[in-house]
Amino acid sequence: MKKDKKENDVELRKKAEKKLKPEFVPIERLSDEDVRSLAHELQVYQIELDMQNEELRKSQQELENSRDKYSRLYDFAPVGYFTISNKGIILQANLTGAKMLGIERGELIDKPLALFIMKEDQDVFYLQRKEVCKIKGTKGTREFRMERKDGTQFYAQLECVAANDAGENSAGCMAVMIDITNRKQAEEELGEYRNHLESLVEERTRELKDSQAQTIRKEKLATVFQMASSLSNELRNPLTIMGNSAYFLKEKMGVTDDMVRKHLDFIHDEVFKSDKIISSILDLTRARSLSLIKADVNKIVQYALSEFKIAETIHIKTQLGEKLPIIELDHKRILSIFKNLIANSLQAMPEGGSLEIKTDVKGGFICIEFRDTGVGISEENIQKIFDPLFTTGEKGIGLGLAIAKEIIDEHKGSISVESEIEKGTISKIKLPIT
Ligand SMILES: Nc1ncnc2c1ncn2[C@@H]1O[C@H](COP(=O)(O)OP(=O)(O)OP(=O)(O)O)[C@@H](O)[C@H]1O
Ligand SMILES: [Mg+2]
Repeated sequence: MKKDKKENDVELRKKAEKKLKPEFVPIERLSDEDVRSLAHELQVYQIELDMQNEELRKSQQELENSRDKYSRLYDFAPVGYFTISNKGIILQANLTGAKMLGIERGELIDKPLALFIMKEDQDVFYLQRKEVCKIKGTKGTREFRMERKDGTQFYAQLECVAANDAGENSAGCMAVMIDITNRKQAEEELGEYRNHLESLVEERTRELKDSQAQTIRKEKLATVFQMASSLSNELRNPLTIMGNSAYFLKEKMGVTDDMVRKHLDFIHDEVFKSDKIISSILDLTRARSLSLIKADVNKIVQYALSEFKIAETIHIKTQLGEKLPIIELDHKRILSIFKNLIANSLQAMPEGGSLEIKTDVKGGFICIEFRDTGVGISEENIQKIFDPLFTTGEKGIGLGLAIAKEIIDEHKGSISVESEIEKGTISKIKLPIT
């Protein structure tokens, strides 16, 4: 309890009297002159003391003012200040620090700071504290995910500096806490934006490559078509002559030798077959626009299948979607595409296997899938299968898929092929529901 001024003065008086040494001359032995001069001196001392007292009061006031100023600066600083013990307990905190953690300052004292650090980051804080507290004056800065009393979260940067007065119960370190949530959010947004930009660039590059490849394929296809059609036209005349001659020899010249008649029949049949191939090549390569009619995709699949003589070693399974909408398409060309995909699958299964054909509706498209268990396509070859004249077949020309791609593109659909060597191939076509 504080003593009041009077008590203090009495005490001081007693102490002073005690100190009055015995060699001091008693007052009754002093002359009048001495007493007058002593009284004068005492009055001067009294004034001096009053002045000193005034000075003291002033400096005390100044001290209090500067303490107030310091504590205002400490409490309302834009960052949180914490004094943390060796064991991680909060010994002191400013008001900003308490506000950051969403708790009253009184409640905060004696609580571990780790209580407000998210579980995932607590180990990092422990290590940071240990590291900093080991050597006086060491600094350490880390970023943490924090959790306020009400459960809301924020990001903070904690800069810890080892306290000078080390010891069991002394302050382990001083920590400065800065709320960096806005910066982190900006960084995250920037990261997302960068990723978005990167994927946009990737997408654009892919599109550019695709369109370059498509242009090359189209140019190549046009050249091939031109060559094929002029060759077919050139071959047509000699073939017609050969056919007519064979017919003339057999029927008009009256050849009776069975062997000769048999061979003339061979010539006639092969000429007829070749003429059919030429007709289909000419039909395929003739540039003309699609002739769209309303059609049922399931029926085209069934018709395409019926055109094949399927070996017994091959198992055909169809899973045709019910209620497929009728769509507009170039019936003849779509049929020839389906036939090519079926032929490709059958050729890929010389030892037998299974071919499954599925149709259904997905996201505004009719999807047609041909899945076989054939030899598959190597990674190197799968890049080339849509190129005109690429073939691995002995009898193929390598135009089937190249033409299919053109026609499906014209229908605003898509065609893709996935394959695994020795496992099989899946060819997928998507046609838009118009
Ligand atoms: N289901 C499949 N299984 C294995 N390989 C396939 C399959 N489909 C296509 N291919 C590969 O793609 C190549 C190109 O096929 P595409 O249909 O364009 O030509 P082709 O069948 O060889 O000849 P064309 O169809 O002109 O008579 C084939 O030669 C083959 O190597
Ligand atoms: Mg083919």
